[in-house]
Amino acid sequence: MFQPTYPIRTERLTLRPITLDDLDDVYAWQSRPDVVRWMLGAGPRTREQSLSSVTAMAREDALRAEGDCLTLAVTTGAGVIGTVELVWRSEADRTAELGYVFHPDHGGRGLATEAATALLDWGFGQFGLHRVYARCHGDNEASARMMARLGMRQEARHVESYRFGGQWADQLVFAVLGREWRARGAAAG
Ligand SMILES: CC(C)(COP(=O)(O)OP(=O)(O)OC[C@H]1O[C@@H](n2cnc3c(N)ncnc32)[C@H](O)[C@@H]1OP(=O)(O)O)[C@@H](O)C(=O)NCCC(=O)NCCS
Repeated sequence: MFQPTYPIRTERLTLRPITLDDLDDVYAWQSRPDVVRWMLGAGPRTREQSLSSVTAMAREDALRAEGDCLTLAVTTGAGVIGTVELVWRSEADRTAELGYVFHPDHGGRGLATEAATALLDWGFGQFGLHRVYARCHGDNEASARMMARLGMRQEARHVESYRFGGQWADQLVFAVLGREWRARGAAAG
């Protein structure tokens, strides 16, 4: 079993597993159309649907086997402001997929980038990943900017590769390798 030593602390944030007590905070963003807009198959959630989601996320506190998802609540003094996650896509290829969702009230300050950086530090450092990729809808500019800010390279634009909202949509794929992540850290600091 692989899991970070909790809590993970950054300059402005604390990251730890989700608990059922986080329902109000999670529902605050899961119920917003502007937040779920780019997520496949997800409309604004009811409180009951958020409870199911929080219950599922609360179990995602470690990576036990390929396919598992590690989901961390990102907290400030204002409570839980978002989540970052790593899905263990391949044990043989030491590859994971990064995901993130934040409440817009806390956007535009680099907090999502700070949280994802901490998770990637753990993923490449303690967990020993070789490659992390992330994907988003071709029009999700905020997400694409975030991946670029993290130092991820855009590797693909899969044109009209999936159905989204009843239409064909492009999907962007970004990635970063462990050695690139470490070199970036060294350059930064
Ligand atoms: C994707 C998402 C997390 C990005 O949020 P965000 O607020 O843009 O990201 P950050 O918290 O890292 O803030 C970065 C912004 O703050 C600015 N900023 C201010 N201070 C900063 C700092 N100290 N460090 C970094 N950026 C800073 C950056 O310039 C950037 O703004 P810009 O994109 O206009 O250039 C958010 O839009 C979201 O949750 N969207 C809905 C869910 C979603 O689409 N998830 C992805 C599905 S693929």
